[in-house]
Formats: sequence, structure tokens, C-alpha cells
Amino acid sequence: MTDYDFSSFDSSFDDFDSGLAVAEPESPVSTGSGVAVVDSDNAVRDYLVGLFEHPVDEAADLIEMEHLLTGEVCVVVLGPSCATSEHMTHIEEWVRSRPNVGTVLVTSELTTQLLHKALRVGVKDVLSAPIERDQLLETVERVAQALRPVETHPARTGAADQAVVPSGELGRVISIFSTKGGSGKSVTATNLAVTLARNCDRPVVLVDGHLQFGDVAVMLKLYPETTVVDAVAQMESVDSEMLQEIMTLHEPSGLLVLAAPAEPTFADQISGAHMARLIEVIRTFAAYVVVDLPAIFSDVVLNVIEASDEIVLVAGLDIPNIKNVKIGFSTLALLNVPKERLHLLLNRADSKVKLDVGEVERSLGIETAAHVPSDVVVPISVNKGSPVVLSAPKSNVARAFEQLAARFLEGPVTSASSQSQGLRKFFG
Ligand SMILES: Nc1ncnc2c1ncn2[C@@H]1O[C@H](COP(=O)(O)OP(=O)(O)OP(=O)(O)O)[C@@H](O)[C@H]1O
Ligand SMILES: [Mg+2]
Repeated sequence: MTDYDFSSFDSSFDDFDSGLAVAEPESPVSTGSGVAVVDSDNAVRDYLVGLFEHPVDEAADLIEMEHLLTGEVCVVVLGPSCATSEHMTHIEEWVRSRPNVGTVLVTSELTTQLLHKALRVGVKDVLSAPIERDQLLETVERVAQALRPVETHPARTGAADQAVVPSGELGRVISIFSTKGGSGKSVTATNLAVTLARNCDRPVVLVDGHLQFGDVAVMLKLYPETTVVDAVAQMESVDSEMLQEIMTLHEPSGLLVLAAPAEPTFADQISGAHMARLIEVIRTFAAYVVVDLPAIFSDVVLNVIEASDEIVLVAGLDIPNIKNVKIGFSTLALLNVPKERLHLLLNRADSKVKLDVGEVERSLGIETAAHVPSDVVVPISVNKGSPVVLSAPKSNVARAFEQLAARFLEGPVTSASSQSQGLRKFFG
């Protein structure tokens, strides 16, 4: 994002004749260019329109803009006059009801508050003055790219592929979810995925679906050079080989990791449809796809949950957690997720906690798949970047994660305490 420079942005308009009032056409007609500029100030609008090489649609306000939308993909550049609270509320309603429309806000004064507000209401990117033509065109193209429907085509299976080729059998998708932040989802996802990888002779992939604040790479001490953003940038040609190149290998276990974006703002470039498509391709070559999710019901989360064969719900053993799990269950029921797909994992469940596990199970109407005790080995392992199943394989925490993995594995689980080396079989 460019630093704000009010004088410089303002001076961009000094050359304009202040009497440049243009009468708006009564029934605007779309140019069909897929780009539109909205601002109540004619001079600002003309300036922004002039940055594009081809004719683009223009409107003085959002209501007028609506007449120009055709149902085709359209990126709307919102000028500085749209940066008010009132406009933001309108933009939120507007964006939600139009999946084919993406918005980029151009502002003369970028504050953290405005940035947060804009991203929260669904604006795809915010640029601040002075605006450079290349920067604007690149942003508009990127937003348009993310809006285009994802084309499905079969993954490449050529014998020349160096990567693991799709086997024809689709892998199982296991998402790790919770309705409460900090409940232990990433700890569960990393320990489960590593256990599956060590016990499986086909690839296992861990997708960091916490796109804004993913912790998976840190928890596995990985330094990814490429992330999910690189996959989404090449969405039209995504295939199993390309995805394997983008993933990072966790050498101690053989697990492949599709890392979250390096910067939280990049998360906005990734839609639920993108995630669903990526999972669809990954499961063609991986036996298991574990997805770590954030504690929100966003478009990305809903798409991942829909694509999941199994959903591990992580809950702490206290009243607010249990209350949230109940709400989560009702929401998942509304989404038509069958109860058989749900697995409840009680984290930090031990005798010092005053809640009775049996009572919790009865109240939720589901048996727990695993009880993970509260243990200092967990924060130690997180700080070391080595999952408990590897760093403290004899601990009860490791046993609990192995018990969870056993639900999904065909044969018995071999613990790291009895298995000497990691699986590097996929990369020689
Ligand atoms: N069983 C446990 N015993 C002790 N500490 C734990 C246990 N489980 C999790 N923790 C601690 O809680 C912290 C939060 O866990 P984690 O990052 O897995 O939560 P999360 O649900 O993924 O959070 P977020 O919603 O932010 O993604 C960890 O850093 C870890 O130190
Ligand atoms: Mg997490």
C-alpha cells in the first residue's frame, strides 16, 4: 500500500478546471469493459478514468453505478468520496449481494481504521494517494482474476511428472474447526497431520486455512518460500504438480504443507471457491488433506467445511466453550453437515477441570473422539516448532492425538517413539 501523501494526491487535481461539471446521462449504458469508477467529484472521477487505457464505466454514486452492472465480472474503483461510514455500509450490502463485483477503494487519507473497515465490509484492496497507473491497473486485474469463475479440468497424470501423480482414489478431507479462538485447532491440525503422514504411504497435506493469521508454518518450524497466494495467482492452470511445487516439505514427517499467506492483507485475494478448488486438486494425489481453520464462519470456512469428509471440532472444557460448540453444532446442522462427520476433541480436558466429560457429551449429544490433557509439553512443542507427537511421543497429549488419527487410519498407528525415521519417500 502506498504511503498517504495528501498534498500530492490533491495536486493531481490542480490542473483541472473547477467548472468541469459534467451532466450525468439519465440512463447510463455500460461500456462492457468490466471496470467502473465511482466518485461524486467529477474531476477526481475523470482523473481515475484517465488512468485506464480503455473506456471504463463511470458513475457519481453507488446507486447510479448499479444501473451499469450487467452480471458480468466487474471491478469497481471507489474514489475518495466513497470512504465515509455511510458509504461503507452501502458497499457491504452491495458487495455481499454481487459475487461478480469486486471493489478497490482509492483514498486520499489512509488510516488503520479506514483500512480495517474497508476490508471488513468486503473491499478487496485499498490504495492511497498518490496513485500510480501501474499499481491501479495491477490491482484491478488481480481483483478481476479472483472473481472469474474457476474452471475445472482434470489434474495432469502424465508419466513425466516428477511429483506424486494422482492415483485415481480421492483422499479424505479432514478440517479442524472450532467456534472459539485459541482453543487448540492449530495444535490439533499439526499433530494430527504429522501422525497421519508418518503412518501413511501416500502423501498427506496440511493446508493452513487460517489465511490471515496462519500458525502452521511456525508450529512446524518451516520457512515457506511459496504460499497459497502463489497457487491462487495461477488458478487457471492449477494442477497436482504445480501445487506440490508450491507446498513446503516438513522433513521430519514427510508432510506437505500449503502455507498461509505471508501477510494478512493477502488473505483477501483468496475466496472460498479458490480453497474448494485447491482441495479438490490436492485430494487427487494426497491420501489425507487436513485443513486448519480460523474460528469464524466465513466464505472460506464454509467452502472448506462443505468440501470436508470429516470435521474435528475442538473445544475447551469450560462453559463458554461448550456453549459455543452448541452454537457451532446448530450452524453446521443448518449447513446440512451430517452429524456422522463430526468428531469432538476436548482440549485441556483433565481432572483439575470441574466439568464432567460425560455430562458435556450428554449435553452435546456426541461422544468425544479424543481428550487432550492440559500439559506444558504443548507450549514447549509450539515454541520449539516440533509437534508433541514428535517432541514428546510418550506423553499423554501425543497418545490423544494418535487416538484421533486412529479414527481416520486404516491400520494401527505407529507412534514416533517406536518409528525411527521420517518419511521422505515422495522426494527421494
Ligand atoms: N492441551 C494443551 N495444553 C497446554 N497448552 C495448550 C494445549 N492446547 C493448546 N495449548 C496452547 O494454546 C495455544 C493456542 O493453541 P492454538 O494456536 O492451537 O489455538 P487455535 O485454536 O489454533 O487458535 P486461533 O483461533 O488463534 O487459530 C497454543 O500456543 C498452546 O500453547
Ligand atoms: Mg490456529
